[in-house]
Amino acid sequence: MVKSPVFERGWTDGAFPWATIENIDQWEGKDVEIRGWLANRRSSGKIVFLIIRDGTGFIQATVSLGEAFSREDLKFLERLPFESAILVRGRVRREPRAPFSGYELEVQGVRVVSLAQEEYPIQKKEHSVEFLMEHRHLWLRSRRQNAILRIRNTIIMGIHECLQKEGFVLIDPPILTPAACEGTTTLFELEYFDLGKAYLSQSGQLYMEAACMAFGRVYCLAPAFRAEKSKTRRHLTEFWMVEPEAAFFTFEDNLHLQERLVSFIVQKVLSECPRELEILERDTKPLERVTPPFPRISYTEALELLQRKGFPVRWGDDFGGDEETAISEEFDRPVFIHHYPKAIKAFYMQPDPENPDLVLNDDLIAPEGYGEIIGGSERIYDLALLEERLREHNLPREAFEWYLDLRRFGACPHSGFGLGIERTVAWICGVHHIRETIPFPRQIYRIYP
Ligand code: 4AD
Ligand code: MG
Repeated sequence: MVKSPVFERGWTDGAFPWATIENIDQWEGKDVEIRGWLANRRSSGKIVFLIIRDGTGFIQATVSLGEAFSREDLKFLERLPFESAILVRGRVRREPRAPFSGYELEVQGVRVVSLAQEEYPIQKKEHSVEFLMEHRHLWLRSRRQNAILRIRNTIIMGIHECLQKEGFVLIDPPILTPAACEGTTTLFELEYFDLGKAYLSQSGQLYMEAACMAFGRVYCLAPAFRAEKSKTRRHLTEFWMVEPEAAFFTFEDNLHLQERLVSFIVQKVLSECPRELEILERDTKPLERVTPPFPRISYTEALELLQRKGFPVRWGDDFGGDEETAISEEFDRPVFIHHYPKAIKAFYMQPDPENPDLVLNDDLIAPEGYGEIIGGSERIYDLALLEERLREHNLPREAFEWYLDLRRFGACPHSGFGLGIERTVAWICGVHHIRETIPFPRQIYRIYP
């Protein structure tokens, strides 16, 4: 595999299958090869303990003075720089005292593939978040970041699994778009050849509406872009969103799907990621309670609740992070806030037939202060009403002709929602700030690395 290793001892031609640390218990008593990087080391005279990480976990590899390793070899390994790439071969032994996995590798052979060229910038000592973010490309190697992004992986797989089982078809939306979906104030604009301005997509929803009239039930899982000036722990300028959309779904059907989806992914993480949750020291009790039905309160009830708690909010105000946190404190699982004032919501939301000042929408607020994770609604399907709403919102009609066509040909009630991946990951992992829930976060003050 490696033409000229930096260092090689005890390397024989024997058969050493490539094992991964996450499955090391399956190799007890067997000879294996582990391929990874040096994460830590210590020595006690005749033994050097190398802590190797391979991306799936960490394991202690013990190198002892003897036939294969001389004093000089041990000296070399004792000073091997952190994050050197290394292959180790040896026998897997159960050792309850060994850190991380309860197994260790009794090393028979070592091959150093490359030496780290400088002192590794991320040390055991506390670093500022700013420093770690500047080194995000390396920070990803840490145990904590590994656990968060593995849970993210499980959440995304869970979303596909749940929606596919429910008959939803994955349809990819465009990212370059001719018009706004979620208000014109947060658009990223660019020049699109001779065709004028184009925008990075804020949401795939409008395209999902077209697709649901072709496939019945659809969803996309795609990046969304918002030129949000907010520097909060809940905002990114580039984030990922899953957006299901279903023809003939009512407001009520929509809420039920949200409950099923959120409960499914939480339960999947609980059963498949116990190791990661433990690394993150996540209290799993609140997650165990995440099962349908979720409590519901109307916007007006939420307003009264906030006023009782001393918030100076008036009817027609939108809720910010603090308000969402205060509301979520009253419930032991995610809570729906529904029927918001039409005036503070997007142009496409279906008015409440009983009170046209309200819309048939919902925000799902995560527990424990993690804020809104879902925005959803029933959509307007009446052509004249939609035309009126476009005018009220000063949206350019030409760019929406295709969208109006959906109301000309086979218009029907339909509903959907968007669940923000990063906020969901932050909540399930119990991570305070959303910047750790995406591999390379984009914020108003950060585009590097
Ligand atoms: O409530 P939003 O803006 O809804 C929509 O975009 C709809 N078109 C979705 C739909 O009905 N198909 O965004 C949905 C979710 C929010 O609840 C939040 O979880 C996440 O997307 N989100 C953000 N996440 C991180 N950073 C931001 N700047 C976000 N803006 C929204
Ligand atoms: Mg929203």
